[in-house]
Amino acid sequence: MDAFTFYNPTKLIFGQGKTELLADELVVYDRNVLLVYGGGSIKKNGLYDKVTQQLEQAGCTVTELSGVEPNPRLTTVQKGIDLCRENNIGFIMAVGGGSVIDATKAIAVGARYDGEIWDIITKKETPEDALPFGTILTLAATGSEMNSGSVITNWETHQKVGWGCVFTFPNFSILDPVNTTSVPKDQTTYGIVDMMSHVLEAYFHPAENTPLQDRICESILQTVMEVGPELIDDLENLDHRETILYSGTMALNGITQMGARGDWGTHNLEHAVSAISDIPHAGGLAILFPHWMRHSVDINPARGAQLAERVFGVDRTGKEDRDVALEGIDRLSAFWTSLGAPSKLADYNIGEEQLDQIADIASANGIFGNYNKLGKPEALEILKDSL
Ligand code: NZQ
Ligand code: ZN
Repeated sequence: MDAFTFYNPTKLIFGQGKTELLADELVVYDRNVLLVYGGGSIKKNGLYDKVTQQLEQAGCTVTELSGVEPNPRLTTVQKGIDLCRENNIGFIMAVGGGSVIDATKAIAVGARYDGEIWDIITKKETPEDALPFGTILTLAATGSEMNSGSVITNWETHQKVGWGCVFTFPNFSILDPVNTTSVPKDQTTYGIVDMMSHVLEAYFHPAENTPLQDRICESILQTVMEVGPELIDDLENLDHRETILYSGTMALNGITQMGARGDWGTHNLEHAVSAISDIPHAGGLAILFPHWMRHSVDINPARGAQLAERVFGVDRTGKEDRDVALEGIDRLSAFWTSLGAPSKLADYNIGEEQLDQIADIASANGIFGNYNKLGKPEALEILKDSL
């Protein structure tokens, strides 16, 4: 394995009813608060009322930024930064899914930076400070609640960029499975696909001697594959919501990548697809990931075969590793389709004429992917297979 330093300062508050602890958490922070949320799901399911009650109980003065869109946009981030400056905000409270949390991370840094936040997101400038922020997660998917990552779309330039820094770990995150019971079936499926994809990105790495890392990844995948279908059939089941919520956080809080840096090429490619078509992130992953895996099968067939056997239950007897790995990929694809995930770009009306632009965006910074190093021609091949 590679040498590593692990750092994750986010305080995680997990469990049914823990939303009620928000006021207690807020006491150590500035009471001038920006409340950030999405398109209205928290008003429909009653969480907005619970949160504003807690903010009031803690003596906060609240300014609101609502309407953060899925695939959050730079324009919305800028609105939030302006609100922070105009209202002398000292703390940000994000209530929502990955999009709300990712936008909050950019607002938190942008509020303490004099220049353009896009320069920080695109790594031209380095942040030196940020406002503190907390989150209440409402959708199990991205892991943004316990990592420093943020993904922001500049719709004018068609760039969807992942970034992060030491200041973009949430100070605390409240994960109350009750807040996820209203997530509809399609978003629940996307969440499952996204968290599994994060584990798969971590699993395909070039490091050697990673037996515990492999087992950690495999056990998250096994758990999600066991519980996911039951949850899809019973969306209000709190036990299943709890398991999937915990799985989503563990899939991308750094634990799976101690000592081995994963590939992340498929995420880069998906972000390029979303940058031109604004599709749900995990809808894109469900389509692209199996094709990336087939494209990468010869890099280390034994690794693919190990995954196929241990997670997808493929019998290896008398078979070559490559064939076992390919059988595992077919099973993964079938699993996602059985949950209702899309399987081809045509499902989102993306046609061959758009592939060149997508491949250009994906390879704009040169070769990408840490396990399978891809350029534009390889990106195009995977995209064509995904049509
Ligand atoms: O906007 P509202 O009305 O809240 O509705 C949202 C939105 O329409 C809805 N929703 C969320 N919680 C709900 C709910 N509906 C009913 N009940 C609830 N409790 O779900 C829809 C999707 O929400 P969104 O936040 O966009 O989904 P997700 O959490 O999947 O986040 C996706 C974004 O995160 C980025 C993606 O690229 C995408 O932009 N990612 C962030 C990562 C990170 N920060 O580490 C890593 C990921 O790989 C990913 O790239
Ligand atoms: Zn993802």
